[in-house]
Amino acid sequence: MIEYIDRRNTNCIKWDSDESRGLLPLWVADMDFKTAPPILAAMQRRLDHGVFGYEYVPQAYYDAISSWFARRHGWKGITRRQIIYTTSVVSGISAILKAMVQPGEGVVVQTPAYNCFFSCLENMECRLLASPLKVIDNHYEVDWEQFEQQVQQAKIFLLCNPHNPTGRVWTRSELERMSAICERHGVFVISDEIHCEFTFPGVDYTPFATVAPTTNYCVCISPSKAFNLAGLHCANIFVPDEAVYARIDRAVNIHEVGEMNPFGVEALMAAYNESEAWLDELQQLIYSHYQYVCQFIREHLPCFSVTKEEGTYLAWVNISASGLSAEELCQRLARQEHVLFNPSEMYGAAGYIRINLATSRENLTEALQHLRKIIS
Ligand SMILES: Cc1ncc(COP(=O)(O)O)c(C=O)c1O
Repeated sequence: MIEYIDRRNTNCIKWDSDESRGLLPLWVADMDFKTAPPILAAMQRRLDHGVFGYEYVPQAYYDAISSWFARRHGWKGITRRQIIYTTSVVSGISAILKAMVQPGEGVVVQTPAYNCFFSCLENMECRLLASPLKVIDNHYEVDWEQFEQQVQQAKIFLLCNPHNPTGRVWTRSELERMSAICERHGVFVISDEIHCEFTFPGVDYTPFATVAPTTNYCVCISPSKAFNLAGLHCANIFVPDEAVYARIDRAVNIHEVGEMNPFGVEALMAAYNESEAWLDELQQLIYSHYQYVCQFIREHLPCFSVTKEEGTYLAWVNISASGLSAEELCQRLARQEHVLFNPSEMYGAAGYIRINLATSRENLTEALQHLRKIIS
């Protein structure tokens, strides 16, 4: 059973931060659902133990990752020596950039893009090489020619697989093509696969590791999105090349802040070893919410359109017919209707809002009704 929780007054960014207090927040990508029961049980056992000293990450932790990705996604043979644990995907990406690029060197990012990709690049003083995705029949596609032009000038391609915010779950052949282009130009790929568990019925996530012809890449993974564990700060970087592993490991750990906490270890193991049925149910719920938003927009706001997506829990809605910028629309919605969505400008694009589907149907309905009200 997926259980909705009223998260107000629990110090969560989504509901309680200065910008969201008192509003109905369908913005930042975490969920209003209680995590899976086996995770809660494992954490409770750890809590009952009552000692929270320095954590040793056991072999069982790596086995849980390896077994999950082999079983669920056909990505076989992950070993402990290829995994660097860290506190979050974003801090991991920053460390990887630190290890792999010099200031001023180029990093290709497919836009619109997850906003922290921009801040990571800025913080690491990398040059952004934007590769805008094309919208064809309400569906995002790669502009291959432009992508290759950007890759030619780059040191790194920072891939989002599946893609936030457009909801694309890249196909095997698309990933093969991206990978071949990067290979051709000697470009290292960082694949952020944090959204990999969110695919709609009939769609499979393809791990980049299963298409890459060489070891010139790394992959960021975490159970945090799928099992709503972001606050536990537990993420992993898969690095298949030994020399690159050593460089990234050094960059992750140079400030001695990458250590794991006891609850993160327990939660990851319980998620990957025991929570598959819960995740299956969650996927269905998210897909039903996506369909609901599509239907609502079709019926009540036909001048808008929801992007055809294959995954994530984020609906990407084209609002350009409103005559307002997405930022203006979101500001008005916050001010007049007390609802929070994310405007596309923060992802480097115009004319869209991002709606977080991982909440109750009631919240979703209420938020959509406010959107309708402000437009009519
Ligand atoms: C693509 C992507 N990567 C990373 C993150 C954040 O990961 P973390 O909290 O582990 O830094 C998000 C959160 O929304 C995301 O969408």
